Amino acid sequence: GDPFGGARPLQGKRVVVTAGGTREPLDPVRFLGNKSSGKQGVALAESAMAAGAEVIFIHAHMDIAPPLNAKLHSVDTALELRAATLSAAAGADVVIMAAAVADFRPSTISTGKIKKRDNVADPVIKLVRNPDILVEVVAHRAAQNQSQLIVGFAAETGDADHDAHSYAQAKLVRKGCDLLVVNEVGPGESGAEKVFGQDGNQVEILALDGASPVQAAGSKRQVADAVVRVIAERLGTS
Ligand code: CTP
Ligand code: CA
Repeated sequence: GDPFGGARPLQGKRVVVTAGGTREPLDPVRFLGNKSSGKQGVALAESAMAAGAEVIFIHAHMDIAPPLNAKLHSVDTALELRAATLSAAAGADVVIMAAAVADFRPSTISTGKIKKRDNVADPVIKLVRNPDILVEVVAHRAAQNQSQLIVGFAAETGDADHDAHSYAQAKLVRKGCDLLVVNEVGPGESGAEKVFGQDGNQVEILALDGASPVQAAGSKRQVADAVVRVIAERLGTS
């Protein structure tokens, strides 16, 4: 069926979606990467377009093709993703940060392939922090006094001290974005991976203003439609 009941709640809105996993180079042929498939980001872009939005899709590495009909920007590293996102965000009504951004990058990139050599110590990789793009998007919005809805994503695991929900709530406040879409990752009760590379997803959409969390489950497209409905409500266009 039609996820928006025949309406086009994001008609005329410009939406930036970031997706995929960044890759941080070690040398000309090697990188540090992550397991993001890009599926949730593609589903978000398709859902926003179905709702009438013009979508700028900024993607790092993905296992699947980017969406048709979006304006595409391909990037590799977190620093490239940052430049493309800050530039696109300047004119956007909504920014959705679904990309899995590397928290660290190798402090130096070897110009030649790293070699193994006998009688030489094995290499140690030194890492430096990448900037937090989501925090920067929030800061730019404030600096420009812009009205913009900013949505983060977080894959959380609980531990002995805190459950995934309380970590996510703290992260939402730290980031200062309007909405944080949270899913619990790692092995489920069956022992099978819950999220990465899977076709389905189960999330909780937390709001900075304290509105009740919205639960959504199903295919990544169904989750995307739920996120887009919450966005449309917030924009007052649903
Ligand atoms: N994010 C970002 N820039 C970074 C890291 C993360 O913009 N350098 C964004 C992600 O795209 C996501 C949100 O921040 O929308 C939450 O990412 P997450 O990795 O859960 O947050 P971190 O602050 O990196 O916390 P953690 O230490 O738990 O990884
Ligand atoms: Ca992180």
